[in-house]
Amino acid sequence: MNGLLHGIPSIRDLPIENKRVFLRVDFNVPLEDGKITDDSRIREALPTIKHALERGARLVCASHLGRPKKGPDPKLSLEPCAARLAQLLGQDVTLPEDCIGDSAKKVVYDLRGGQVCLLENLRFHAEEEKDGDAFCRDLSQLADVYVDDAFGCVHRAHASVHGLAKLFRDRGCGFLLEKEIAALGKIVTAPDRPYVAVLGGAKVSDKIAVLESLLERVNAIIIGGAMANTFLSAQGLNMQASLVEADRVALARTILEKARDRGIEVLLPTDVVVAASTQADAGQVVAVGAIPAGTMALDIGPKTIEAFSRRFAGAKTVFWNGPMGLFEKAPFAAGTFGVARAIADSHAFTVVGGGDSAAAVYAAGGDLASKMTHISTGGGASLELIEGKKLPGIEVLRGGAPS
Ligand code: 3PG
Repeated sequence: MNGLLHGIPSIRDLPIENKRVFLRVDFNVPLEDGKITDDSRIREALPTIKHALERGARLVCASHLGRPKKGPDPKLSLEPCAARLAQLLGQDVTLPEDCIGDSAKKVVYDLRGGQVCLLENLRFHAEEEKDGDAFCRDLSQLADVYVDDAFGCVHRAHASVHGLAKLFRDRGCGFLLEKEIAALGKIVTAPDRPYVAVLGGAKVSDKIAVLESLLERVNAIIIGGAMANTFLSAQGLNMQASLVEADRVALARTILEKARDRGIEVLLPTDVVVAASTQADAGQVVAVGAIPAGTMALDIGPKTIEAFSRRFAGAKTVFWNGPMGLFEKAPFAAGTFGVARAIADSHAFTVVGGGDSAAAVYAAGGDLASKMTHISTGGGASLELIEGKKLPGIEVLRGGAPS
């Protein structure tokens, strides 16, 4: 067990037999026309759900979905998730029309040991995001034991992951949250070296905090994706029509200087795949110093893939967050898939941050996903943990007596 798990009871050790168990899950899944396009967050919660049901718990699952701002929104109902969970479990999953109040109580109080319900979207109540006391108390009436398995939400001090947990003496983590804290916690507290971090995605502004923190922790930082454009611009290159965050160029320069002063290697693209627009059906490989006017960098080039891949060969720890290009479009996917393959083939302890990078590993296909040590289900949460921050949804699980 690493330090970050210290003092957090596991569901294994909580008295859940025949008890009503509030299980916070993260079923914030992508939907298209009301259909779930990726159910991995539901499948990742199954070990905890099955364990609780096998031990005879009356299981009350709860989640948010999307970011509804004006109360209930039928498009963000958890109905598709309840249906998918029922299919995966092979048993009924009742969905009351609200997460608190009489409709929820009726369903929850009717549950027998080994039965499960899923409450309607917690964010249909504004109090969820405000960590409101009254809302926490209403939710607490539904259960005797609190278990959090929603890693994707532990960076949020919201009612269902924070205030609510404090109202239970018997509170702890599910298997997914335990696995996430164990893997990410290892690279925060005791990474084997060399430790190489790979950051990509569109914006430097989203990654400033993690970049600053990684400068204290890693041996090398690899930067790809559109955020690399801002760094290349900071080195004086003309990125032409590429996405560059003009107001972050000075910051990028400072980060490069800090890295140099600390002896941390920073690898940036030396070639890129360019096109006139993101809609183009083909790209052209050019050196970063020779980007034609009117074109934009949409992927890293083959020489860069090779150089980045070489850097993983000797690494003992690799953390990756953010794609290397517009991988959703075939002409610009080679960089992200190439880097994913190289990380998977390395002998390092490899952790993939959630969100787009996790989606890229699955989209790359083959055996890549199974060759990673850990693929996180949390985007923002994994970044904040890697930064070394204390996350409210994790800290609240330590200890025991209600506060
Ligand atoms: C996520 O998808 O990262 C989590 O479910 C948290 O969602 P949020 O960013 O809307 O709080």
